[in-house]
Amino acid sequence: MTEPDTFAALEKREWANAKTAQSYARAFARAADMVVPHLVSAVAAKSGTEALDLCCGHGNVTAGLIAVGAKVTGLDFSPAMLEMARSAAPQAEFIEGDAMNLRFDAGMFDAVTIGFGMPHVPDPVKVVAEARRVLRPGGRLAFSVWCGPEVDTALGYVFGAIETHGHPDIALPPGPGANDYADPALAFPVLEANGFTDPQSETVASMWKVSDPGAPFDMFLEGTARGGALLRPQPDKNAAAIRAAVVAQVLRKHGDGPVWHVPLPAVVTSAVAV
Ligand SMILES: C[S@@+](CC[C@H](N)C(=O)[O-])C[C@H]1O[C@@H](n2cnc3c(N)ncnc32)[C@H](O)[C@@H]1O
Repeated sequence: MTEPDTFAALEKREWANAKTAQSYARAFARAADMVVPHLVSAVAAKSGTEALDLCCGHGNVTAGLIAVGAKVTGLDFSPAMLEMARSAAPQAEFIEGDAMNLRFDAGMFDAVTIGFGMPHVPDPVKVVAEARRVLRPGGRLAFSVWCGPEVDTALGYVFGAIETHGHPDIALPPGPGANDYADPALAFPVLEANGFTDPQSETVASMWKVSDPGAPFDMFLEGTARGGALLRPQPDKNAAAIRAAVVAQVLRKHGDGPVWHVPLPAVVTSAVAV
């Protein structure tokens, strides 16, 4: 009998897959890239800032920090992601590691960024605590998380379609909610309980410009850990119904094309280390 998958194992395996990592970097991250300047300014990065970019992925936030003159260390547990990050930001130092268990001394950094990493760690509170430990007092933490389906978002189209048309036996192992930390009501108390003050949040109108109304389905299928793990095992009939439902949503909400601006908004949350 095979062991049931855990959330931690699923995340590690999916992001280690070079095809998923490359597809995320090539297509999905076009929306994440729009959030980079907001993360960089939320941590007040400038020349000489010593910054740690957790869950750095292919290095988009790292490169944004480098562009304003920061000295950056990027950390991720996916070798496939780190390979891309090294070529995106050759001036940065990169370390393979776990964001929940940092191998840095206390008070080494002025800034910690986490671009779309919070939903992927089994224990996001531990990451907040680790970020605080490695920050100097007065240092800043900022993280981005996709908005949930309560707003108009491609994420809602895809996960709504999975709920309606997905095979009932295909489910994710229990883990943190994908959009939990976009909600200030959840994020702010965690920050304040872990040595941060002055929490703030900003919504960013990130989106994809696509020429195929089914592209949001393809992006989640090919370029995400959680979405991919739910979509890839679907029988053909279910996958086709999910994609058709996504296409219908894009056409209904965003017109007949031939180009669609599909929203994928995000929240950037930041706070200051006490
Ligand atoms: C959605 S990607 C974000 C990439 C990039 N930061 C961005 O803003 O587009 C999430 C990244 O988190 C990494 N990751 C997930 N869990 C992690 C953990 N526990 N420790 C380190 N990296 C982790 C994955 O390998 C992946 O590169």
